[in-house]
Amino acid sequence: MVVVMAPEATQDEIDAIVGLVRSAGGDAFVSRGVTRTIVGLVGDVDAFEALNLRSRAGVLDAVRISVPYKLISREHHAARSVISVGGVPIGPDTLTVIAGPCAVESPEQTLAAARMAQAAGASLLRGGAFKPRTSPYAYQGLGEAGLRVLADVRAETGLPVVTEVIDAAGVDLVASYADMLQVGTRNMHNFALLQAVGAAGRPVLLKRGFGATVEEWLMAAEYIAQRGNLDIVLCERGIRTFETATRNTLDISAVPLAQRLSHLPVIVDPSHSGGRRELVLPLTRAALAVGADGVMIDVHPEPKRALCDGDQALVDGDIEDIATAIGVLAP
Ligand code: E4P
Ligand code: PEP
Repeated sequence: MVVVMAPEATQDEIDAIVGLVRSAGGDAFVSRGVTRTIVGLVGDVDAFEALNLRSRAGVLDAVRISVPYKLISREHHAARSVISVGGVPIGPDTLTVIAGPCAVESPEQTLAAARMAQAAGASLLRGGAFKPRTSPYAYQGLGEAGLRVLADVRAETGLPVVTEVIDAAGVDLVASYADMLQVGTRNMHNFALLQAVGAAGRPVLLKRGFGATVEEWLMAAEYIAQRGNLDIVLCERGIRTFETATRNTLDISAVPLAQRLSHLPVIVDPSHSGGRRELVLPLTRAALAVGADGVMIDVHPEPKRALCDGDQALVDGDIEDIATAIGVLAP
């Protein structure tokens, strides 16, 4: 069961609901979004029904939830959510483009990539300062120095920053620089990290695990929400299948499916899914055609010299195509 608090509900009214639930032997998890606060209840639903929570002060509704991902389910909130990242909305009736370098390599490279991102229609800048790599010998990112570069480029361009955090220990540091915390595909099952970003007070971009089902992806989002943060954006970035002609297989059906099961925004990463520059525009068009709330795209001023994922990075010549596609297909 989920209790939806009225927008004007006071902390005392929220605390009173939590107290009532715990007095009935259950547990309660308060989760806050930009526009509302909800309380997830765990325990005997019949005992909760006996509390007549719907009539309590500050309560808008109390809804039985049939799915295991309570706080992010659409069963208690039919309208889909709009998340604000540094003042930039992501959600229905928006078409948010996040673009930037896969990895922050230098101030010059990141600023050039940010300018390309803006030309492509981006309103948020992506860039990895801590890079999860298959090989321990591959470029691992600039770390905090990379976060400082992102902050400087934000100051120069006005673009809020989305950047990855790779472990729970790094959350406070990354959150002190970033407008949005990104959890990568490899870390979707890192439950300690999910709980840490849920408590960090920043919107979270949650990449789908490349070996995860849609339900596991939604349960990972529930971990974040359970720690109090409803400002979550889901990102479909491709799954691992038997196909090797592309880097991953973009599971385009997961986009409308996740939008129907959860109230969270869903975007697509056409760069990491296809893994090839020439697939980014077609996959972007596919994402927009199924109603994705946005895309996240890698760009680089000199992909041949990129220290990470150069093959999938757009170059200047591609930018106009992307801007046109987005402009043409925007709602
Ligand atoms: C994302 O940007 C990852 O850091 C990158 O795709 C990892 O690629 P690799 O596992 O081939 O190093
Ligand atoms: C990224 O977007 O920088 C990244 C690491 O992607 P993924 O986690 O989807 O591989």
